[in-house]
Amino acid sequence: MSNSFIQDAKTLPILGVGLGLRRELADETLANQNKIDWLEIVPENYMNLGGAIRERLDAAREKFPLVTHGVSLSIGSTDELSCEYVGGMKRFLDLIDAPWWSDHLCFSSVNGSYMHDLLPLPHSKEAVEHLAKRIKQAQTIVGRPFLLENISYYMNVPETAMSEWQFLSEVVERADCGILLDVNNIYVNSVNHGFDPYLFIDNIPLERVIQIHVAGHQMRDDVIIDTHGSAVIEPVFALLEYVLKRSSVKAVMLERDQNYPDFEELLSELARIRAIAESAQPALNMVA
Ligand SMILES: [Fe+2]
Repeated sequence: MSNSFIQDAKTLPILGVGLGLRRELADETLANQNKIDWLEIVPENYMNLGGAIRERLDAAREKFPLVTHGVSLSIGSTDELSCEYVGGMKRFLDLIDAPWWSDHLCFSSVNGSYMHDLLPLPHSKEAVEHLAKRIKQAQTIVGRPFLLENISYYMNVPETAMSEWQFLSEVVERADCGILLDVNNIYVNSVNHGFDPYLFIDNIPLERVIQIHVAGHQMRDDVIIDTHGSAVIEPVFALLEYVLKRSSVKAVMLERDQNYPDFEELLSELARIRAIAESAQPALNMVA
C-alpha cells in the first residue's frame, strides 16, 4: 500500500462548505459569495465550450475556488482509457487551477458506447487491480490528486467477494488516490442492500476522504432512489457528522440537481451543513 497520496493531501487547501454550480441556479449562486465557500462543476458541461457557458465559468472562477466532478471517465470500463478525455481534463483543470478532481467508482461505457448511467462493478480482486492501474494512469496524465466517489446502485452486484466498503478501500489504497465520500449514497445503499451505514464508515480509510457529498433522495415503494431532488434527511446529516468527527476533510458540498426549491431553502441546508461542520471540524467553517 502506498501512502504518498495521504502525505500530499495534507497540503491541499481547505475549501469549506460548497454547492454545485447548476445553470438553473447560477445567478443566485454567484450572488451569494458570502454564504458559499466554493463550487463544484461538472467538467463535461464546460470543457472546450465558449459563449455564455464560458462566461458563466469565468464569472464563477472570479468569485470561488472550483473543483470538478466528472461523469464520463468510466474508470472501471474494459475499454481503453480515453487519452483524449483525460488530456482534455488536464488542460481544463490547469485552466481553472482546481486543487483536485473526481469521478465515480463505476463504468459507463462498453465497446466505445457511452451510457447515461453510472454502473456498479463486480467487487472482485480482478476489478480492484484493473481500477488501480487505470486510476494511476489517469492521475499521472492529469498531475493532480484524484478522488473516487462511492456510487448508489440498484442491482445485486455479481461476484460479491467483498463488501462495498472493502472494495472501495482496496481500490483507493492500491491506486493511492483519495475518496469523495457521498454520505447519501451510503445511506441509500444501506437501505436498499441491507447493511449498517456506520459499518461502512468504520471500515474505510477515512484519512483518504478529502471531500464529502450531501444530498437528498426519494422513497419509491420498497426502494430509495438517489435523485438529488429532495431535502437532505436527518439520518444523512447524522452520517455527515459521524464522518466529520473522525476525519480531516477539506470540503463538504450539497448536491442538488433537480426539483429545485426556493434558493433560500438551499442556503438554509448549507447553513445546517456549516453548523455541523463547525462543531465537528472547526477548520471547515470558512465564512462565518
Ligand atoms: Fe455524490
